[in-house]
Amino acid sequence: MFNEIDIDSIDLSLPAPEEEPNRQYYYMKLLKKLVKEKYYDKGKTPLVYNLVVGCQMNAKDSEKILGILLQCGFVETDAEDGADLVVYNTCTIRENANLKVYGRLGYLNSLKRVNPDMLIAMAGCMMQEKHVVDTIKKKYRFVDVVFGTHNIYKVAELLCERLTTGNMVIDILEDTKQIVENLPAQLKFPFKCGVNIMYGCNNFCTFCIVPYVRGREKSRNVDDIIKEIEMHVADGVVEVMLLGQNVNSYGNDLKENHISFADLIRRVNEIEGLKRIRFMTSHPKDLSDDLIQAMKECDKVCKYLHLPLQSGSSAMLKRMNRHYTKEQYLTLVDKLRAAMPDITLSTDIIVGFPGETEEDFLETMDVVEKVRYDSAFTFIYSKRTGTPAASFEDQVPMRIVKDRFDRLLNRIQTIAAEKTGVLVGRCEEVLVEELNDHIDGYVTGRLDNNTLVHFPGTADLIGKIVNVKLNEAKGFYYLGECVK
Ligand code: SAH
Ligand code: SF4
Ligand code: F3S
Repeated sequence: MFNEIDIDSIDLSLPAPEEEPNRQYYYMKLLKKLVKEKYYDKGKTPLVYNLVVGCQMNAKDSEKILGILLQCGFVETDAEDGADLVVYNTCTIRENANLKVYGRLGYLNSLKRVNPDMLIAMAGCMMQEKHVVDTIKKKYRFVDVVFGTHNIYKVAELLCERLTTGNMVIDILEDTKQIVENLPAQLKFPFKCGVNIMYGCNNFCTFCIVPYVRGREKSRNVDDIIKEIEMHVADGVVEVMLLGQNVNSYGNDLKENHISFADLIRRVNEIEGLKRIRFMTSHPKDLSDDLIQAMKECDKVCKYLHLPLQSGSSAMLKRMNRHYTKEQYLTLVDKLRAAMPDITLSTDIIVGFPGETEEDFLETMDVVEKVRYDSAFTFIYSKRTGTPAASFEDQVPMRIVKDRFDRLLNRIQTIAAEKTGVLVGRCEEVLVEELNDHIDGYVTGRLDNNTLVHFPGTADLIGKIVNVKLNEAKGFYYLGECVK
């Protein structure tokens, strides 16, 4: 894959090729040259700060952006202050994600006044919204480069354009059918990573902005996915998370080599050296019996499923365009537990969707009582411009929403704490992820079912799977000790 490509041998006296990814290799070489002249030749090391917010998709995109920039000579730093290039990979799923970005842009402006040479690149979901780009053009003229979700692979080309023309560069595509493969990525952890299996979303849940900012579903070719995972495994990765907004519809858009998501995980399960497989996100409407069977029979697939509920009221689910009822959702949970009695379940729930009555809310509480999730992410409904629900008339007053939100959170936390207790006394495999930042001499890792475990250990354990006796449950994590 990318490692096989030698960008230094590219001839910059020729015009840039049209086809991808060769065009990007050309611009990576050009940016490397510009970076050398601007920084290294003057005795400076160019620092890049990369802020990533939002979901796993954005985290993966940031790994790709950073991978390209490091190839071009930038070195990563963990602070905006002192950085030569700042990249914000934005999220717009809820309004507060969006507002935070404007706040931080104000801060960047103050840094740029001190260091006018600082480059600022804005990327990601928020940039796919026209009103955002218009605001940046009008009020944040100090931003250098703006690009969206469909062309992150072009970061080197866009920076070259900025450096050679001196103009603000804005490059936003509404959507694309193109998937550009074989570019570098800088993994956050050397032992686990996300792998995109598809991009975009076709579901148009009425509250959600994602289909507007990520375009239509595009599945990657199965051989490309397998090849990428094999390459990561050769580099030391033991856990992969297969990524898509709705992984259960993987492959539906592929004309050739069509395989289902269930068959894809069967293929991934055969990869030698890989230890754990996770995936995100599963839409309940497309969760097939075959997928449950595949999860059960594939030894590397973690017995953990994130199954967003959104609401327990069938009437709300209909207005949300989710295509399942409360009963269908509960039946799915029964099927999952019948096949895998120890499966851990997590979910996403929205409180205060337009028209939600107390009775609707109690339906959600009822599902929470019945399913007893191991963990749940709860959100206050946020109106997103351009989505159907934004124009629904019966928005719920914030006072009522907050009260419901608190009641829900309370129950979820109590149940989660009760559920975490069940493994106390057992010896389980833990993938060690990092040194514990609170207790000296401890490391932190995750069980197959995604629960955190802290136990005494040293840095050499990071990236390894070890057996840990779970001594004590503390709310949503365990304290344990390593056993040989
Ligand atoms: N594709 C995933 C969800 C991605 S967004 C799925 O279908 O499950 C992650 C979560 O953000 C959603 O599950 C939903 O609970 C929440 N969310 C999305 N839009 C929202 C909005 N407008 N207000 C509040 N929460 C929202
Ligand atoms: Fe949003 Fe629904 Fe698509 Fe998930 S499935 S990304 S919630 S539109
Ligand atoms: Fe946010 Fe975009 Fe993900 S809006 S949740 S970063 S797909």
